[in-house]
Amino acid sequence: MSAKIIGIGTALPEKIVTNHDLSNLMDTNDEWITSRTGIKQRHFVTNQNTSDLATIAAKQAISDAKLSPQDIDVIIVCTFTPDNFTPSVASMVQKNLGLTHNMMAFDVNGACSGFLIGLEIALGLLNTHKNCLLIGAEVISKMLDFTDRSTAILFGDGAGAVVLTADKSREFNIINRAYPDIDSVLYANGINGDNEKQTIKMNGSEVFRFAVKALSEGIQAMDYESCDLIIPHQANSRIISNVSRSLKIPIEKFYMNLDQVGNTSAASIVIALKQAITEGKLKPKDKVLCVGFGAGLTMGSALFEL
Ligand code: UT7
Repeated sequence: MSAKIIGIGTALPEKIVTNHDLSNLMDTNDEWITSRTGIKQRHFVTNQNTSDLATIAAKQAISDAKLSPQDIDVIIVCTFTPDNFTPSVASMVQKNLGLTHNMMAFDVNGACSGFLIGLEIALGLLNTHKNCLLIGAEVISKMLDFTDRSTAILFGDGAGAVVLTADKSREFNIINRAYPDIDSVLYANGINGDNEKQTIKMNGSEVFRFAVKALSEGIQAMDYESCDLIIPHQANSRIISNVSRSLKIPIEKFYMNLDQVGNTSAASIVIALKQAITEGKLKPKDKVLCVGFGAGLTMGSALFEL
């Protein structure tokens, strides 16, 4: 599949919540969170929702691509925290961008692998559509149980967007895999009649084990030695360092910004990609390997040239 990312944008809510701030809400502390996860702070919305963050990131990506919103043919929003069950966040972004021309807009729920699943769909759609706006956007703070200290400390809110266009000079290698979550190690209930609050629930150590395996598999599925930088899903620095050690890949080859933003699920890889580009760690024509893993259970991996 050949395509090029021609624009990228992100949106992080203004409010920063430090580990110390969380220690005022629950029995935790900065030392525990930092040493077990690498996370120092995250962003939480105050009065925005997922579609608001998605729209800000989308506008930035379209402007970075030097296009106008009217040039967009497809909007895909990857999220497990939509504003509503329907309309989709993608349809809300379409409305916010004032788009009324013939186009497609839909959401993808692939949790933390969402961006990679959306990417594979977008690459397919570029056979028949010109410009695809692919967004990862989450407001996870609305789904956290602040009495569950091992889960609530991990997540943050944010969005990232890319504009993709067909380009024969840029090859994408991509795979996505799904494995049934037989023991229900990571889930958030919907409306299923039991009145349980719709918060994220997790068996941390089981998810950790899966994450290490999935990240290793995702990297090994690609020609990782040829890449300039690996952008893993930003879940926990211990997951990443574990894989760095076992695959004997220097830790410097893994980009991490989870200390600043925490785990933003479907938004995590694209927020990290934009930050790596801004910091000069990636430049045009560099090869990047992005690997996502998460609820489902799911894993996705993509190797491509910028
Ligand atoms: O996108 C995928 C999303 N999910 C993940 O990435 C999660 C993957 N899993 C993890 O990151 C880790 O399993 C956690 C960070 C969630 C937990 O780390 P852990 O090293 O597996 O800790 P643990 O659950 O084994 O808990 C160790 C201790 C327990 O105390 P006791 O029983 O030993 O006295 C916990 O109660 O740490 C305690 N604990 C905390 N202490 C302070 C758990 N959470 C906290 C906390 N602050 N926030």
